[in-house]
Amino acid sequence: MKKVVILISGRGSNMQAILDARLPLTVAAVISNDSSAAGLEFARASGVATRVVDHRAYAERAAFDAALAAEIDEFKPELVVLAGFMRILTDGFVRRYAGRLINIHPSLLPVFPGLHTHRRALEAGVRVHGCTVHFVTPTLDHGPIIVQAAVPVAHDDTEDTLAQRVLAEEHRIYAQAVRWFCEDRLEIRDDGTVRLARAQDAVGALCSPACEA
Ligand code: GAR
Repeated sequence: MKKVVILISGRGSNMQAILDARLPLTVAAVISNDSSAAGLEFARASGVATRVVDHRAYAERAAFDAALAAEIDEFKPELVVLAGFMRILTDGFVRRYAGRLINIHPSLLPVFPGLHTHRRALEAGVRVHGCTVHFVTPTLDHGPIIVQAAVPVAHDDTEDTLAQRVLAEEHRIYAQAVRWFCEDRLEIRDDGTVRLARAQDAVGALCSPACEA
């Protein structure tokens, strides 16, 4: 079974969804840059090793990333999962884990990279919002897209109601993407797109590629 390390900064609900999905993989550790991250408690209660690498202890971003990489590498993971990990990573860190570092972002990338995605979606008046799981490249919230789920925007949505519906989709597609990776079904092609082996027909689905039940 493949080993996975999950990085979190706060609540950790995406991490929780991956643990709850009981995927055929081993979550070797959950690492946070913040000792007060609520998700650490859930990880511990689930019997998963936890570590904290506090970014405030490092003057330079590169030094923090090196310390973080040292912790990650102790667990020899095949996959590193960013689950609400709110630190900008250096190019060196991203290159070290090229092809085995994935992120979830609460928008239909490439629109709305960065913060406050739900507020920006409402301000822009988009009718469809959503979330994206992608391989990480040095550019923030950018990189080969693995799966996206679309969420219709209701006329009376607030930032909170929209965030809640998007989050429910995040939980679904992140577990699915991690499963695909662990089943060796994802291939990053030369043109920067991702090919999913044995993909189902996604026509008409609000989740593409269509997620399996
Ligand atoms: C999630 O909505 C995730 O998509 C977002 O932070 C939240 C973390 O929630 N990540 C980003 O914005 C990364 N650019 P969680 O801690 O409950 O998983």
